[in-house]
Amino acid sequence: MADRMQGMSGNIIREILKLTKKPDIISFAGGLPSPDSFPVEELRQIAGDIFAGDPGFLQYGTTEGLPELRESLAAWVAEVGIDAHSDQVLILTGSQQGIDLACKALLNPGDTVIVERPTYLAAIQIFKMYGANIVAVPGDERGMDLEALAEAAAAHRAKMVYIISNFQNPSGITWSLEKRQQLAALADELGFIIVEDDPYGRLRYSGSSEPAVSGLNRLKRSLYLGSFSKVVSPGLRIGYAVGPAPLIRAMVIGKQGTDVHSSNLSQRIVLELMRRGILARHIPKICAQYGMKRDVMLSALAEHLPAQVSWTKPAGGLFIWVTLPQKYSVTKLLERAVEEKVAFIPGIPFFLDGSGDNCMRLNFSNASPEQIRTGIARIAKVIAEADK
Ligand SMILES: Cc1ncc(COP(=O)(O)O)c(C=O)c1O
Repeated sequence: MADRMQGMSGNIIREILKLTKKPDIISFAGGLPSPDSFPVEELRQIAGDIFAGDPGFLQYGTTEGLPELRESLAAWVAEVGIDAHSDQVLILTGSQQGIDLACKALLNPGDTVIVERPTYLAAIQIFKMYGANIVAVPGDERGMDLEALAEAAAAHRAKMVYIISNFQNPSGITWSLEKRQQLAALADELGFIIVEDDPYGRLRYSGSSEPAVSGLNRLKRSLYLGSFSKVVSPGLRIGYAVGPAPLIRAMVIGKQGTDVHSSNLSQRIVLELMRRGILARHIPKICAQYGMKRDVMLSALAEHLPAQVSWTKPAGGLFIWVTLPQKYSVTKLLERAVEEKVAFIPGIPFFLDGSGDNCMRLNFSNASPEQIRTGIARIAKVIAEADK
């Protein structure tokens, strides 16, 4: 194997997800949209229309993506405060690919990438693959500690700062406007590139949206990544990057060698979802459904968990982050929990230093309200038993 594979393990979440495929298990482990949220009928209709029309989509397409979709997306991101030309939009095979292509375009081995503590596990894996020096900076419920960030960025001459600005995975927190403005300014001052990963931003259930950090930075030193995985379907594998033209160009060159282009069929489907107004109608529907499930989980936590346990109260997204007293090992609790037929993700993989074993990530979008109530009661039982 290549040196870059040294010490790389498979995505632990994917391993846990295998376990949760067992019948009867209530899983809060995945980051999955609810299967009953997919707009199947509309998708069937659109796919039928596409096949009934010009078969040109069966041919190779351009690496940058379908021009009409790039245009629609330039208008779409204007809604989050990003002023971009369609040339600055690159269609991706999932926003995951955007993280990879940004690294391919920007990182030399040894370059420093600053991340939130905790952060998205699969991003950590990519940064490791590119030989990055990864520095995790903690924060609070309003975002990263920017003094610590500025210090770390200056000390390591950081190349990239990777953030999830809305309803973060795993913590559920959202960056405040003030912190967004400060980060946008720091990028110019200290010369790093912000990679703003925002797959959850449209899933807001309470409060009001903040502008994207990349918009506040006017895309000077920032890259915005969006996705249709959580608002339509992850299986379509369509995401998008919006950034400065030279960076987008470098990512296009990188993508040529990765997958030539994203699926024409999926791109056409997403374009039609936007054109026919289906997406605009669909998002409020799933927000109502997930917002209700979030509330069910929050009240179940309040009802069942002991006083020393705390958790975040996300205004959107898919996750609640639970923190137990240090004495607990959530990895051990998971073994017992699976016997009790409930699953979640322990905190460790979201940290770089082996800490976080007293934390767990709970997904609230995939289970039914009844399963949520039962599952949280089971988790409470496992915690109580561990206390004995
Ligand atoms: C923070 C974050 N970024 C990126 C992704 C990847 O999403 P996509 O399906 O668009 O590749 C996910 C998926 O869970 C995620 O949580």
